[in-house]
Amino acid sequence: MTKKTILITGGTGYIGSHTAVQLLEADYQVIMLDNLSNSKADVVQRVEKISGKKVSFIQGDIRDDQCLHQVFQNNPIDAVIHFAGLKAVGEGQSQPMRYYENNVSGSLSLFQAMQSFGVKTLLFSSSATVYGDDGVGKYHEQSALSPSNVYGQTKYMVEQILRDIQASDASWRVGILRYFNPVGAHPSGYIGEDPNGIPNNLMPYIAKVASGELTHLNVFGNDYPTPDGTGLRDYIHIQDLAAGHLESLRYMLEKNTSITVNLGTGQPHSVLELVHAFEQVTEQSVPYQITQRRAGDVAICYADPSLAKTLMGWQAKYNIQQMCADTWRWQTYSKTILKI
Ligand code: NAD
Ligand code: UFG
Repeated sequence: MTKKTILITGGTGYIGSHTAVQLLEADYQVIMLDNLSNSKADVVQRVEKISGKKVSFIQGDIRDDQCLHQVFQNNPIDAVIHFAGLKAVGEGQSQPMRYYENNVSGSLSLFQAMQSFGVKTLLFSSSATVYGDDGVGKYHEQSALSPSNVYGQTKYMVEQILRDIQASDASWRVGILRYFNPVGAHPSGYIGEDPNGIPNNLMPYIAKVASGELTHLNVFGNDYPTPDGTGLRDYIHIQDLAAGHLESLRYMLEKNTSITVNLGTGQPHSVLELVHAFEQVTEQSVPYQITQRRAGDVAICYADPSLAKTLMGWQAKYNIQQMCADTWRWQTYSKTILKI
């Protein structure tokens, strides 16, 4: 049987690179397309080193129709996993046009190219941020959709485009995957999350405090209606998230169907629980200060992940201790192996 070829947009990014490794290990051929706006080209070699397999890398932009045309013309692509996008919530609020253009127009260009070349199998990176704040905080796939920021709107709009495409043409197989809070790194320490500048997200911030690059963590509020007053989130190990993509793809191809699923653990953890787990696992101290709530944050957000388990047998395996250990290995190791 010939190997299936998967195009990964945003392939050198955090989630794309980990998913690429697992696809290669499962004997898919992988083509990465990335404009390197938020990642580095050496990720390609790192992915090859971990997997022991070759990857095709194209530096290009999903908004560039000519580039897309060439990619589909020159390669026998069976399916696309679409990660390319901008993802900083605060930046989306201050630069809405850039976010709509990149995330929505870019996605539309990609879907048009796919349609032209008859490639109609797609996984799309959506986010738990498409759910509105229902006051309970546990979200299943039928929960109301009501994004509260520009970034979330871009995800909602692309989801809606995909629902309309499926309604118009039943030969599309679309997987809408709503991620909760991806953290951690590949256990080899070769790839991980590498945010530019000061991190916005909790886990990379904690890692930089533990390493001494930042002096302390600001904990955004301890007066939420949660057991310790800090926000509760559903942190999911990047390896589990990547595995969720493989299971989704396998399920869609086998059953010739479309899906919309949450990818989370179903276990909420507070900010302070994550801080203490990190300190315990790494034996480093993570000084913190309680500050004001961050605008736009909700108290609680975690997944009901039961649909993914029922449909395709996928469930997360790793706990927060493993998430912290792998983040720390990447944080410390990546500095010593920048050249591979
Ligand atoms: P990332 O920034 O590490 O990866 C995204 C990649 O896309 C980057 O390598 C970037 O260079 C590339 N890219 C951006 N715009 C592009 C364009 N126009 N053309 C080509 N490449 C482009 O982010 P990530 O954490 O790996 O996220 C991947 C996807 O998952 C994103 O769509 C993101 O919105 C979504 N998501 C992420 C999270 C999270 O917390 N990490 C949560 C929910 C959803
Ligand atoms: N937090 C702090 N201090 C920090 C950073 C975060 O206390 O320096 C707290 C937040 O208040 C929140 C929790 O840590 O309670 C998690 O915050 P993150 O910024 O790590 O994650 P969010 O839940 O706010 O958002 C993330 C992604 C979004 C995505 C969402 C749901 O950033 O893109 O998960 O998938 F949409």
